[in-house]
Amino acid sequence: MPKLKTILVTGGAGYIGSHCVVDLLEAGHDVIAIDNFANAVGDEDGSPALRRAEEITGKTIVFYKADLLDKPQINDIFDKHKIDCVIHFAALKAVGESMQQPLLYYQNNLLGMLNLLEIMRAHDCYQMVFSSSCTVYGEPEFVPITENHPTGSITNVYGRTKYFIEEMLKDLSAADKKWNIIALRYFNPVGAHPSGLIGEDPTKEFTNLMPFMAQVALGKKPVLTVFGNDYNTPDGTGVRDYIHVMDLASGHVAALNLLAGNHIGLKVYNLGTGKGVSVKELVDIFESVTGTKIPLKYVDRRLGDITALWADASLAKEELGWSTRYSIEEMCTDFWRWQTMNPDGYPKKNKTTVIVNGKS
Ligand code: UFG
Repeated sequence: MPKLKTILVTGGAGYIGSHCVVDLLEAGHDVIAIDNFANAVGDEDGSPALRRAEEITGKTIVFYKADLLDKPQINDIFDKHKIDCVIHFAALKAVGESMQQPLLYYQNNLLGMLNLLEIMRAHDCYQMVFSSSCTVYGEPEFVPITENHPTGSITNVYGRTKYFIEEMLKDLSAADKKWNIIALRYFNPVGAHPSGLIGEDPTKEFTNLMPFMAQVALGKKPVLTVFGNDYNTPDGTGVRDYIHVMDLASGHVAALNLLAGNHIGLKVYNLGTGKGVSVKELVDIFESVTGTKIPLKYVDRRLGDITALWADASLAKEELGWSTRYSIEEMCTDFWRWQTMNPDGYPKKNKTTVIVNGKS
């Protein structure tokens, strides 16, 4: 039985959150998930993604529609359940929107985190895994990027919220030794659960490469716009470290295991494959594993985009005992399975989780 048994997952109905919930349940944890449905499909009746996570695992999730800005509501959840650790995914995450509405992003992401930390402390819960991003590194000074690469010179508000939270966690763990926190810096999550039952279903206008490419392959969008083919990379297109969302999920279970047996204060780990893949390479692989043709249109670089970044993931391997298992081909195959099984994403209205707001 895991030592940190009951895990509160904030943003549990979202893309990464729902995949992580599957892994947590399979590792024997009890899951209490909350979501305000800012980025995920769902309503008062619950979340289709979490309903399907229950279907995949044969286990039950306790779900609350809740917002971290509503302190009394979050406090009630902590009063009701003995929570051993929090995995904190909930955040606004659209880079473009963050530039237009900085106060919304600072309020939601920073104040949400502050509320959560205060409530955790009041309930004697000091264990946390925080969802950070490789965006904190800004334009890399070197690749592969190690965890001690400088952070902070970021070009967008969303990324700055991740950076500010990391700084906040540093101060907190230095001031009070009870805290035991792991921040995981994700590279580019793609793919879906191999069952095809859960996957990425963006509620807002989305701009990420894989979901956009899949929409083109489905014929829902006419062409994939490639932002720049004059980068200083082997084929001129941008290079990223794409990681299967199930590998990302297993990184969280590994982080919980480290927290359970050790007092570490604050530790930071990259979660990536360690391999850079260009836009053009990803398109070629996607076409070949799915048997589709993606029409391309080359345009100017996208403002704020970085040339090339990929992770040095050796620290996570050494200290978390974690490494990636899925290939880039599997990332494309699994994403495509999800997309073809659910061309319109999740059902937008249905009776969902078994337990909602603590009641059957
Ligand atoms: N790209 C295209 N066409 C598209 C979409 C993307 O050519 O329609 C290219 C981008 O220019 C980039 C690559 O595909 O070279 C990946 O772009 P994504 O938008 O999928 O991902 P980003 O690397 O820009 O952003 C991701 C996360 C952010 C995070 C950032 C950190 O989505 O949340 O990594 O670098 F902040």
